[in-house]
Amino acid sequence: MEKVKIGIIGTGYIGNVHARIYARDERTEVSALYDIAPEKAERTAKSVGGKICSSREELLEKCDAVLVCTPNKTHTEIASHAADEGKHVFCEKPFSIGLTNAKKLLEIAQNSKGVFQVGHNRRYAPVYAKLKELLSEDKAHSAHIKMNRGELLNPVWTGDTDITGGFLYETTIHLFDMMRFQFGEIAELVAYGSEHEYPELDEFSIILKFKNDFHCTFASSSDASWLFPFERIEVFCHHRMIMTQEMEHLIDSKGTDANFETFSWAMTEKEERWGYVQEDKAFIDAILNETEPPVTALDGFKSVELVESVYRAIKTSERIKFD
Ligand SMILES: NC(=O)c1ccc[n+]([C@@H]2O[C@H](COP(=O)([O-])OP(=O)(O)OC[C@H]3O[C@@H](n4cnc5c(N)ncnc54)[C@H](O)[C@@H]3O)[C@@H](O)[C@H]2O)c1
Repeated sequence: MEKVKIGIIGTGYIGNVHARIYARDERTEVSALYDIAPEKAERTAKSVGGKICSSREELLEKCDAVLVCTPNKTHTEIASHAADEGKHVFCEKPFSIGLTNAKKLLEIAQNSKGVFQVGHNRRYAPVYAKLKELLSEDKAHSAHIKMNRGELLNPVWTGDTDITGGFLYETTIHLFDMMRFQFGEIAELVAYGSEHEYPELDEFSIILKFKNDFHCTFASSSDASWLFPFERIEVFCHHRMIMTQEMEHLIDSKGTDANFETFSWAMTEKEERWGYVQEDKAFIDAILNETEPPVTALDGFKSVELVESVYRAIKTSERIKFD
């Protein structure tokens, strides 16, 4: 069987995570690398191989599937270019910045002949797969969710809204996608936000109601320290609470006593614990089987829509309703 030729645009932190995974996958070959800082591509080529390209066009000629691993603001243009060229596209989160760009990319992705997958890796993380499995056997009533960061300093562009689109696009969007994955479609939300450490809204409190009557609170802070767990979901069911702690532990407590069962992935390799290995495999499965990937362009679009709705709710003090 011929190997799927992978081209990586942006060989920084996450580009290298995917490069290492595909270098080990017998169904793929890391064929081409392009980074505006050529020394970055050279470093990646030394560890996993691949031709260092001097332009995006050259990279597109040398691969079947493109991984868009550049900073947020470049995703729409680079992913559109690759999809227009008929390539399979894996676009890191966020799918896009702003509704206009997101609509444009959604249309291109949906009309492209290739697979288009968005990098919401947490859906594949064992802790969240386990949560979904447990919730398939019990009805979730409500939840309390948090997703924090310790700083917006590393990489340096994470504090630059011209590049990120805002803190919600950079970090919180992961669990925005997770809410839809676990609890379904959102009906309405109210949100409050404030500005403290950085010249942008950096603290958020959100209340959401879902179409199935589930409801939850969501808190997100960009300067909360890296105190573990910086990301947590507490779900409340009938005499039951299920709590995730980062991507390491899940605690399931049932009944009216203080009983609980703990599941741990603390000893699982990070690339698998965070779902990167599984999402990269799913992308190749979708290409080879000609099936829809688990996280589609529409999922990517909906996470952008949610980010924009929260910013709008804060700006206008209005309750936002979804169709
Ligand atoms: N899914 C996840 O868990 C996860 C984790 C980290 C980052 N990300 C996302 O991946 C993207 C990259 O993040 P990172 O942490 O790897 O950043 P990074 O700064 O480490 O790497 C980005 C690379 O892209 C290169 N680059 C910038 N503009 C380019 C362009 N126009 N063409 C080609 N190369 C270009 C830079 O030189 C750099 O090497 C971001 O959108 C980020 O949100 C996702």
